[in-house]
Amino acid sequence: MKSNSHIPVLLNEAISGLNIKSDGIYVDMTLGRAGHSSEILKKLDSKGCLIAFDQDLEAVAYSKERLSEIGQNFVIVNDNFKNIEKILDQMNISRVDGVLFDLGVSSPQFDEDYRGFSYRYDAPLDMRMSQENPLTAREVVNTYSLEKLTKIFKEYGEDKYSYNIAKNICKRRSEKPIETTFELIDIIKASKPIRELEKVGHPAKQIFQALRIEVNDELNVLKEALEGSIKRLNVNGRIVVITFQSLEDKITKNIFRKYSVIEGNRINDYIDPKDIKTPDYKEINRKVITPSEDELKVNRRSKSAKLRILEKIK
Ligand SMILES: C[S@@+](CC[C@H](N)C(=O)[O-])C[C@H]1O[C@@H](n2cnc3c(N)ncnc32)[C@H](O)[C@@H]1O
Repeated sequence: MKSNSHIPVLLNEAISGLNIKSDGIYVDMTLGRAGHSSEILKKLDSKGCLIAFDQDLEAVAYSKERLSEIGQNFVIVNDNFKNIEKILDQMNISRVDGVLFDLGVSSPQFDEDYRGFSYRYDAPLDMRMSQENPLTAREVVNTYSLEKLTKIFKEYGEDKYSYNIAKNICKRRSEKPIETTFELIDIIKASKPIRELEKVGHPAKQIFQALRIEVNDELNVLKEALEGSIKRLNVNGRIVVITFQSLEDKITKNIFRKYSVIEGNRINDYIDPKDIKTPDYKEINRKVITPSEDELKVNRRSKSAKLRILEKIK
């Protein structure tokens, strides 16, 4: 099933969070179907520019057409966003005015049965966001050791039955390779007690999340890209990050705090006030922004979204 429909999450909050100036340079790290990028581009004049990353060729092909109908001052980069600094260097751009991350997979990626992201369709175990990524979920499931599988299921999926599931995967694959999402789901279900299977939520959700994170190295690329983006911000420039699961949100929160809080720097008897350092960045919202009731009504997938904003203040 091929679809191009993706409802952008926290659209107004993200766009107002970027505080867009019409002649600025903005980077959308996760172009997808250009929901956020379209709104950014509409706010730019001919001196402004949008640079948009997506590692998925299908997202790039669709969004190029969509953005062309709005303006021409955009560049699409079909690459991993972890390469932001390298790409900006190649474009001779030293600083930018805003960077947006809307993490995770898009609805089309999730709904395209052949990509293997969803536990709702029987599909080859793939889960690659980039068609050029050599690592697939099939390889992870069929070649990783028991210890390594258990570790990724625990760390990235936080599934209580990680060891059981990994053990049953190893047992099954010694008979024949595990090829499809439904074969994997059968193993996951067989590894959990009945009372667990009766709970709300799909029993394979956390393991699918763990595999996707591993296949796309999602947490490491996020850390690298956040650090790179923070370094490249102009004064008054902002980074807006929308996350959909706690591991990504924790990484974002910790990196934002690292740049916006100087530890042990409170006024006391021993510090001369003139020696007190102030941070170069500030968090715009200490408390995460989440979707409104109205948004939740029209887009169920926005449920777990959290938005954070960091600004470079000097
Ligand atoms: C949630 S969607 C973005 C949706 C978009 N904001 C919209 O409104 O249409 C995330 C997109 O980011 C892309 N993506 C995720 N991680 C990436 C990475 N490390 N580098 C480049 N693109 C990435 C995915 O391929 C996907 O198309």
